[in-house]
Amino acid sequence: MTSTVDRRAFLVALAGMGFAGPAAAAGPLVPTPGQTEGPFYPVTIPADHDHDLVRVEGAAARALGRVLHLGGRVLDRWGRPVREALVEIWQCDAHGVYRHPRAPLQDMADPGFQGYGRTLVGPEGAFRFRTIRPVPYPGRTPHIHVAVVVPGTGRFVSQLYVAGEPLNERDALFRSIRDPAARERVLMRLEDGSAIEPEALATRVDLVLDL
Ligand SMILES: [Fe+2]
Repeated sequence: MTSTVDRRAFLVALAGMGFAGPAAAAGPLVPTPGQTEGPFYPVTIPADHDHDLVRVEGAAARALGRVLHLGGRVLDRWGRPVREALVEIWQCDAHGVYRHPRAPLQDMADPGFQGYGRTLVGPEGAFRFRTIRPVPYPGRTPHIHVAVVVPGTGRFVSQLYVAGEPLNERDALFRSIRDPAARERVLMRLEDGSAIEPEALATRVDLVLDL
């Protein structure tokens, strides 16, 4: 977290969104549905690959786009935190350009956007990222790619979408998730995040692994 963002405010805001509540699952949770990794997972992990994608070390400016604070937990099907999970996200910048040599429009890439970040979960399975609200690019509704690596259980890959985004219903990958409860797992409900950072959005998504 950068010095411009107050960690305590972040935690308080997430608590207000139910983040700190107990899992208290009445039964097994619906797992987050897996999705294709897509073609633009980084070929080489950038030197700056921390959880703050809005600032790139050495870049003159922060990323273009609306800041989104994405928090959540990695849980098993019984709502128990999965410890030692590594969470990765990657997405295109505000111009719709991926940090990937084979992605189109590389000359338009935003040098202030990290494009990829990763973080280890905390003791309660919690993770958080500072990124931008995803934007559409030709053929796709806005989305954030996510992967979870848990030692001994392999790598889980999915994509997160913006709840209420009209383009979702025309997106073949989103539509491929037919079960409404499974769809709910990959939807980010964007809320006012100004308690964390001025003009920011905030959301929380629990990643439920089929463990
Ligand atoms: Fe993508």
